[in-house]
Amino acid sequence: MLNRRNFLTAAVGVAAATGLAACAKEDDSSSTSSSGGGGKKITLGFSQVGSESGWRTANTDSVKSAAKEAGYSLKFSDAQQKQENQISAIRSFIAQKVDVIAFSPVVVTGWDAVLKEAKAKKIPVVLTDRSVETSDDSLFVTLVGSDFTDEGRRAAKILEKVLEKAGHKGNVKIAQLEGTTGAAPAIERAKGFKEVMDADHKDDWKIVVSQTGDFTRAGGKQVMAAFLQSNPDINVLFAHNDDMAIGAIQSIEAAGKKPGKDILIVSIDGVKDGFVAMSEGKINAIVECNPLLGPQLMEVVQKVKDGETVERWIKTKESDFMQDQAKDALPTRKY
Ligand code: AHR
Repeated sequence: MLNRRNFLTAAVGVAAATGLAACAKEDDSSSTSSSGGGGKKITLGFSQVGSESGWRTANTDSVKSAAKEAGYSLKFSDAQQKQENQISAIRSFIAQKVDVIAFSPVVVTGWDAVLKEAKAKKIPVVLTDRSVETSDDSLFVTLVGSDFTDEGRRAAKILEKVLEKAGHKGNVKIAQLEGTTGAAPAIERAKGFKEVMDADHKDDWKIVVSQTGDFTRAGGKQVMAAFLQSNPDINVLFAHNDDMAIGAIQSIEAAGKKPGKDILIVSIDGVKDGFVAMSEGKINAIVECNPLLGPQLMEVVQKVKDGETVERWIKTKESDFMQDQAKDALPTRKY
């Protein structure tokens, strides 16, 4: 969590000074209208993690459409899940003298140097979706995003309901598919889940195997296949996102087992494909993580530009869903 982070001094092993790394993708989208109060149009530089999941696609769409709606000039860069690409993008935004920089950091550490460069040029930085660890609190203004530790706790609590509903008796042997190594949602979701497990299930639950699937379907599929080889008696899967759960389902079926029955599955996000898998009985419960952060982000950017004070952490509202809610909820899912 943001307020519990240790302050680390990070060394950024990146040489690039300005300009985007060759493999990062940048696009410019400028709207013709001016921002809110009729003043100069705000130029926002946004560095996105990548396009690793359905959640990320929905988040990108939300940011782009909200920027258009707000009348901002958006400089959007896709880092393809590489920190060095994000650092290069941020340096490029600084060189282009954007008004505000926003980014969703691929990992939590290693940002001090580039954030100091933005501060030296008086360009405010807003974090969105994921947080960072910095040596200096003043290096970013605010975080607009979810409480990932709480999502981990909620996943453990909803697993209790899933086990009860399935009439599960005996030991719970959990496989955990972690998100990208070093990313805030991977660290914090694992932490929140473990917190509940250590407090309430010391004797009956055990994480027998845990590895990163990098938040991707391919990663989830590949790692789950290996889990099933090494631990064929797994009876629960906790996946840090829906995409990895969906990939894992393919491996579970290929191993001749029934997802949602032989292996109970809890995942996080709540994307449409996750709801489809839930309505087919293959995922047992989903903890929602809301990707539609664009409108809140644009509001904050305007306030920051106007010199207004904003909260240090603007949290997102989210719900939890059990399998029996999936069919009703599916038609209303926007992403
Ligand atoms: O940071 C949010 C996480 O990143 C989402 O849960 C996951 O799907 C995405 O890749």
